[in-house]
Amino acid sequence: MKIGILGSGSVGQTLGRALVEKGHSVRIGTRDPLKLESWRAEVGAAASVGSPAECVQWAELIVLAVHGTAVEAVLESAGVPHFSGKIVVDVSDPLDFSGGRPGLFVGTTDSLGERVQRWLPDAKVVKALNTVLAAVMVNPGLTGGDPDMFIAGNDADAKLVVGGLLESFGWPVIDMGDIESARWLEALSLLWVVHSHRTGKIHHAFKLVGK
Ligand SMILES: NC(=O)c1ccc[n+]([C@@H]2O[C@H](COP(=O)([O-])OP(=O)(O)OC[C@H]3O[C@@H](n4cnc5c(N)ncnc54)[C@H](OP(=O)(O)O)[C@@H]3O)[C@@H](O)[C@H]2O)c1
Repeated sequence: MKIGILGSGSVGQTLGRALVEKGHSVRIGTRDPLKLESWRAEVGAAASVGSPAECVQWAELIVLAVHGTAVEAVLESAGVPHFSGKIVVDVSDPLDFSGGRPGLFVGTTDSLGERVQRWLPDAKVVKALNTVLAAVMVNPGLTGGDPDMFIAGNDADAKLVVGGLLESFGWPVIDMGDIESARWLEALSLLWVVHSHRTGKIHHAFKLVGK
């Protein structure tokens, strides 16, 4: 697939590298393509960098991995019509540390994932990968058992496509329902942060067990 990534941070660079290794073509969209020169050179010919609009126009599927507070501005700069009919994998979290402790700037009765779906009404938004560290997103390889990846979105076919990508990264995938469940996946990311602050650990992930 031609996969566009909006976001040039550790998530965007990590997923871009891994998707190229899996045989996809990747274009990262950023305000500053020059800062990704070494990433592009390292990843090779299937990797490219452009503006957010170039990235989304070119891509068949888009990964949204920008700072939570910048999501709406980045979607607007990329051009909302360019997302029409495409799958958007929303990895972003609405983290808010302004109160001196970990919090979310939207939650409980709404979520960033739902906002993204409202901002992009003709796209198929799937929340995924937002509950683990970038370094754990591909081939997690954790001790203590294989973690699960929880996803949420309104379009069943889009969730199948995203599930396939996640399985290629080594994740068992659990569908948590429509995009409203992004409220609880984003809350789970905060639980991840709380555990990290309490223990200093960063390589943890969640697993659903039962019988
Ligand atoms: N880091 C992790 O391990 C991790 C794990 C799970 C989820 N997440 C979530 O994934 C997202 C990406 O995280 P990250 O750590 O890779 O990167 P980040 O530092 O949270 O964000 C970097 C990206 O945000 C964009 N950005 C920041 N401020 C902006 C602004 N004012 N206007 C436009 N764009 C702006 C930057 O765009 P430019 O390229 O144009 O500079 C850059 O691409 C976040 O929502 C984060 O909460 C992160």
